[in-house]
Amino acid sequence: MWVCIKEWKNRDVISAKDFSKKEFLFLFDVAKKFKQNKLKANVGKTVTLLFFEPSTRTYNSFRMAAHKIGCFTDGFASAQTTSVVKGESTFDTLKMFTGYGTDCFVIRHPKAGIHRYLAERFDVPIINAGDDSHEHPTQAMLDVFTIWENFGKIDGLKIGIMGDLRYGRTPSSLSYVLSNWKVKLYFIAPELLQIEKRLDNMEFFLQKKGVDYEKISNYKDVLNELDVLYVTRIQKERFPDLTEYEKVKGSYVITSKDLKGVKKHFIVMHPLPRVNEIDTSVDNTPHAKYFEQAKNGLYVRMALLYLILGGSDEK
Ligand code: NCD
Repeated sequence: MWVCIKEWKNRDVISAKDFSKKEFLFLFDVAKKFKQNKLKANVGKTVTLLFFEPSTRTYNSFRMAAHKIGCFTDGFASAQTTSVVKGESTFDTLKMFTGYGTDCFVIRHPKAGIHRYLAERFDVPIINAGDDSHEHPTQAMLDVFTIWENFGKIDGLKIGIMGDLRYGRTPSSLSYVLSNWKVKLYFIAPELLQIEKRLDNMEFFLQKKGVDYEKISNYKDVLNELDVLYVTRIQKERFPDLTEYEKVKGSYVITSKDLKGVKKHFIVMHPLPRVNEIDTSVDNTPHAKYFEQAKNGLYVRMALLYLILGGSDEK
């Protein structure tokens, strides 16, 4: 298979809203080929990882993905060891790496919207690896890949998205990707963390797109109807006021006891890290998919870098 599809080449990945259903399905096909070891690539480009916020999975899966398709990586996993602490701007930091010959930036940053600003100023592709509470499009790609892989379809599924829907960036990007299919979404959160409290107008987007959704506060009311429950961590570090955090912390914990009446093929997902939202008793049930989901990050990011950097295959 030779893949160098015009629409993907040199593309920025800023928002999950920027891609179509057809494009997602194409990405999933390529990711699946990498996962099944049916595709090998030797792209030979340089990917620069700039992580201004902590990360375990996103940083390492992107780095590993780049290496596995024959790319080089540079950059940093923490800005603490760089001249950023001396006051260097994000623009200057990127400018430096373009001088070293980078072909692509993967950036996690505490400023919402900065990726669009950077994409307007640099010619090489900019991939958003998370911007504050706003978006995390590549996480959503691997999330929906995991759903697609588990069910062989997405249409018709009932999907609960639970937790910090206000400050989390994975629920918004996930909802944007899922809005391309005929799904029923249940936004499950305490009132303080519901979607209408977000800074971006996500609810307006869902209504305009005609997405079928409901907002509920207790997961027990819908659990046995769901195909997927996507759990998220309460984003303590993003609360402007920690007394608000105290009001909602620990408000939901899924245990294996909760799963007694769920559908046979029901799956529990989580972008990770979990703090205490999913009890470890769930790990040994056939419903737990969060570690498989994290693993899929490698293949989806291999596919993404491969398509954007326009590699040739060897098999
Ligand atoms: C998420 C993130 O960074 O937004 N983690 C991830 O990328 N897998 C979720 C989180 O931090 O809660």
